[in-house]
Amino acid sequence: MSQEFATLSIGDKSYKLPIIEGTRGDKAIDIRRLLKETGYITLDSGYMNTGACTSAITYLDGTRGILDYRGYAIEDLAKNCSFTEVAYLILHGELPTFDALEVFKHEMRRFALLHEDMIHFFDHFPPNASPMSILSTTVNSLHNYYPEMDNDDDPYGGYSVTTARLLAKTRTIAAFSYKKSIGHPLVYPSPRLNYCENFLNMMFDRPNLPYKIKPEFVSALNKLLILHADHEQNCSTSTVRLVGSAGANLYASISAGISALWGPLHGGANQAVIEMLLAIHKDGNNYKKYIAKAKDKNDPFRLTGFGHRVYKTFDPRAKIIKEACAEIMDELEINDPLLDIALQMEEHAATDEYFIQRNLYPNVDFYSGIIYRAMGIPTNMFTVMFALGRLPGWIAQWTEMKEDRENARIGRPRQIYSGQTRRPFVPMRDRL
Ligand code: SDX
Repeated sequence: MSQEFATLSIGDKSYKLPIIEGTRGDKAIDIRRLLKETGYITLDSGYMNTGACTSAITYLDGTRGILDYRGYAIEDLAKNCSFTEVAYLILHGELPTFDALEVFKHEMRRFALLHEDMIHFFDHFPPNASPMSILSTTVNSLHNYYPEMDNDDDPYGGYSVTTARLLAKTRTIAAFSYKKSIGHPLVYPSPRLNYCENFLNMMFDRPNLPYKIKPEFVSALNKLLILHADHEQNCSTSTVRLVGSAGANLYASISAGISALWGPLHGGANQAVIEMLLAIHKDGNNYKKYIAKAKDKNDPFRLTGFGHRVYKTFDPRAKIIKEACAEIMDELEINDPLLDIALQMEEHAATDEYFIQRNLYPNVDFYSGIIYRAMGIPTNMFTVMFALGRLPGWIAQWTEMKEDRENARIGRPRQIYSGQTRRPFVPMRDRL
């Protein structure tokens, strides 16, 4: 197929810029030579119109509500796979054979323990410390205990070991931080349990009150983690890539991604949704008052869990999570008034011009917290759950960036300057 070009005219000059087309028909104007050829940069606050890279991991179609990991529809993956299987797919590019999955699961079991010295970390955070702050700090510190991560020759180093180590230890860090926060004895990972069973057991088992792992919760948790596993170049993934592009190690890059995810406009939204629904419940379930606030330009309040930079239709993940929510409530006969409020808000927004005109629909965060609540996971750990799900995506994107030799350079956006023009220095004595 012949190369297509865009033509850019500046003054009496015109420039031909190559058009790039992705394997799913997505198109871009290649401006990598723009500054050199024209002396101009582009300006795109929030990168609304800018592609940072090419990637083979995840494909999103925001208009048709499509989300695929490595070519597989998330609907198929959420229905048929475990989170560990999908993590393998995202990291290695193919669904694992039975044997390959057994090896991956063995590595996760092998690296699930934290260095015992790291357990003292939890003693020195204040009792109300944010689990996201603990996670970001502790993940960054893993490099102090496992510096060999870059060394493929070292049996305890290299990509696959480091990946399994991060996935396994981050789950342990999350559960240990919860146990410490409630003053309960730590529950160590068990080699007899799979990823999700282990997490729930480490969170809720007690020496005096053995925890019975519910298969409904295991199935819902697998789905939730799968649906969060990657999402192309979102804010936290772009952060992981940018920090990694400077040559920072994987643990430091993931720690930066955890910090970006913490924001309430991003991964912090799942916690903010529950806080919003609780406030509405306390306010007599008066959800229409909050919808009016969200529409009021003079009110900073936004309907958290609604809207998305890419999806201009129902977030396909929200659809699956909403169904899983109804299923689990039904199976376990749980009646959560917050779910009723959420359903009413979604129904109301679906016929409200403000939301329709702006293509504002529920996103991945709108219903996920209701399932975490049903499991007994505390609200301040919801974004940690998002991070556990997103970890394979962050690692795969970081690695893809590292392996992209042709474009391997430090990420460094430019700017348009809007400050003072050059002016003479003013000594202290002359300053008013
Ligand atoms: C995630 O990027 C990803 O892929 C992220 C994510 C992932 O998997 O990594 O999908 C996860 O972060 C999901 C989003 C979670 N955040 C929230 O739920 C917070 C609430 N949503 C919004 O703040 C907002 O919708 C964003 C941040 C998600 C998207 O913001 P944009 O794309 O910058 O859109 P915008 O702020 O320019 O809004 C466009 C219009 C504005 O109105 P006008 O100025 O045109 O009149 O829509 C309005 C906004 O005021 N609007 C909302 C709204 N979201 C947008 N109005 C009320 N409530 C909202 N939630």
